[in-house]
Formats: sequence, structure tokens, C-alpha cells
Amino acid sequence: MASDEHKRLADIVKGTHALLRAEYHQYGAEIAWDRHLARNDVLQKYATSMQKLATKCWMDSNSNLRNGTYCRMEWIKTQCKEYFFNSGREKYNKREQDINAKMTLFSTRSSDESVTSKDNSSCTENGLQNYYERKISLLDVGSCYNPLSVDNAFDVTAIDLIPTVEGVYRCDFLNVAIGRKKNLSQDTWEIRQLPANFFDSVVFSLLLEYLPCPKQRYVCCRNAYDVLKSSGILIIVSPDSKHVGANARLMKSWRYTLSRMGFMRIKYEKLRHIHCLVFRKCIYKDVAIQWSKLQHFSEVDKKYVSETKIFIPQDFQASHLKKKQEKLVEYEETDLASAFSELPFNDEVPT
Ligand SMILES: C[S@@+](CC[C@H](N)C(=O)[O-])C[C@H]1O[C@@H](n2cnc3c(N)ncnc32)[C@H](O)[C@@H]1O
Repeated sequence: MASDEHKRLADIVKGTHALLRAEYHQYGAEIAWDRHLARNDVLQKYATSMQKLATKCWMDSNSNLRNGTYCRMEWIKTQCKEYFFNSGREKYNKREQDINAKMTLFSTRSSDESVTSKDNSSCTENGLQNYYERKISLLDVGSCYNPLSVDNAFDVTAIDLIPTVEGVYRCDFLNVAIGRKKNLSQDTWEIRQLPANFFDSVVFSLLLEYLPCPKQRYVCCRNAYDVLKSSGILIIVSPDSKHVGANARLMKSWRYTLSRMGFMRIKYEKLRHIHCLVFRKCIYKDVAIQWSKLQHFSEVDKKYVSETKIFIPQDFQASHLKKKQEKLVEYEETDLASAFSELPFNDEVPT
């Protein structure tokens, strides 16, 4: 049963989202983001509320099935282990090689063009030999309370706007530098630079919808691409309590945009309150891009698709300016709150 305390915590989370989104519409993305980052007290309160909400969930249901679905952290861990420890990666390496071979065979491009732009920045076959002998290096973006660090299979780098628990670094993933190696601030509290082509996996769990601007979401995905090794995976969990078809065109547009970037979608599951997706950073970028070239969008669907933006349902509700605030709050109420309700403090959930 949802107690007053649960409602209070959920209201803090929803209120923070609503404020950021309202300021984005009022001042634009950059100013709104700067104002947001300057509100230490709000960020702090958000983080502690979010931690309490989610910790309640895990106390009840960690690793259990609820509503026919795994808790999102279990889903993420399972996907990583399947991919890195149970031949998933090899399967997709092979698939990619086959597609690439066909594309090369039938390519009509002139010989001065590269046959395919193999992204060999990190993934030599030798470089991946020891995959099974070591931990999965995972960057948890918007980690908040560092939920993935408890599993020994992972070497987790947890980052958030404001660290509230041990092991989480301060780092704004939108604006962090990406370079040769990791750089910390002098007090070792903040990550100033992340290493390129370094992580096996990047996780965005309930991150993208935090960001009010479609371009910011795109920048986050592009940064994930840059810090991932070739054949590494980006895992995205996004709240949506509607049925699978309701936002299918947005799911397709994400796939399109990420495919242009060099990601291949290798898994998609719609669970009761969340979309769960796995994107692989292709070794052969052209293989990823090829999928996007085969897509056609109707005139209606085109407004949901962009090469440099990642849209979420709230973006389209916001266009009805008059009803903007009302509607945004309404969406937060239903979808984000429902995502939290996926955690076991929902009245509907049998205990
Ligand atoms: C809804 S919480 C999700 C927490 C956790 N990942 C989960 O699934 O329960 C979103 C988190 O993302 C963090 N966040 C938002 N934008 C970020 C950015 N640009 N860089 C790092 N963290 C960010 C927020 O501070 C917040 O803690």
C-alpha cells in the first residue's frame, strides 16, 4: 500500500522534474540546466527521496518476479551477463560480420571510399580475448544510489549530478569531457573527464526522461557511444505504463537515431511500466547505419524522428502551450509515478 511517506517522496521527485521542464520552456535548455545544477538542496533532496523509494522496492522484490516482470536492475544485470558471459556478444559479432560481408560484396561504392568504416578504436579481436576472465566495466549514468555496485560481476563507475552515497562520483554526463583517460578533481569527488572507448556497458536507467530537452538526450547517447568500447552495449530503461503500441513510433525513432550514430538495437522488451532496450555499439558502423537507410516514415511519423534529437512523449504534450503545465504534471503523475509503482509500493500490487 502506498503510504503518505511514499507519496511525499514521489511528489519530491515529480516536482523536481516538473520544475526543470517548466524552466526549460521558459529559459531554454542551457540556462535551465545551469539553474538546475546550482540548486544543490533540490538535487540533494531528490537523490535521497529517489533512494528511499527504490530501496523500499528492493527490500521487497530484489531478484523476484513482480507483475510478471523483473525489477529493472535485475533486468539490466541479466542482459549484461547474457551478453558478456553467455555468448551474446559473439553471436552479434558474427551477425555483424555476416551483414558486413554481404554489404561489401554488393557494395557499388567506388574504391576510393572506405569499404566500411570499421570502428576499430578499441575493438581488436585480441583486445577482447579476456572478456570472460574479468568483470564487466559498467558506467551507471544517473546512478543516484549506486544500485549496481552490489554485484561482483561488475566493475561499476557510478556517476550522478550530486553524489549522496559512497562510491558515486559527481559528474554531469551532458558536459563531461571525454578523452584518453579518467580525470578526477583534486578532492577525488568529481569525474572531470571520462575515458573514450573504455566501458563494456553504459546504463541509462530512468535517465533520459529526466532531461527536458530532446537534444540533451541525444548528447547523452552520443557520449555513451564515445565512452563505450566497440561491441559494448548501452542499456536504456525508460518509464511508460501504456501498452506496447502506444509509443511504438517513439521507440522506432530512438532506434533510427541511434542507428545513425552507430548503434544496433539488439533487445527490446516492454514490461508493465517500462521500456527496456539494449543497443550495441557496432564494430562496423555502416552495419548499424544500414538499418536506418531501409526505414521509411510517414508524414505524421516524421515529426517524431530526428538525427540529432531523442524524443519522449512529454515533448509532444508540451507543444500544447496553454495546457502545458497541467499536462506535464499529468504525464508525470501517470507514467513516472507508475514506473515507481512498478516498485512494490503500489496499492495494486499484491503482496
Ligand atoms: C530518476 S533517477 C534514476 C535513478 C536510478 N538510475 C534508477 O533507475 O532508479 C535519475 C537520476 O539521473 C541523474 N542525472 C540526470 N541528469 C544527469 C546527468 N546529466 N549526468 C549525471 N546524472 C544525471 C539525476 O540526478 C537522478 O539521480
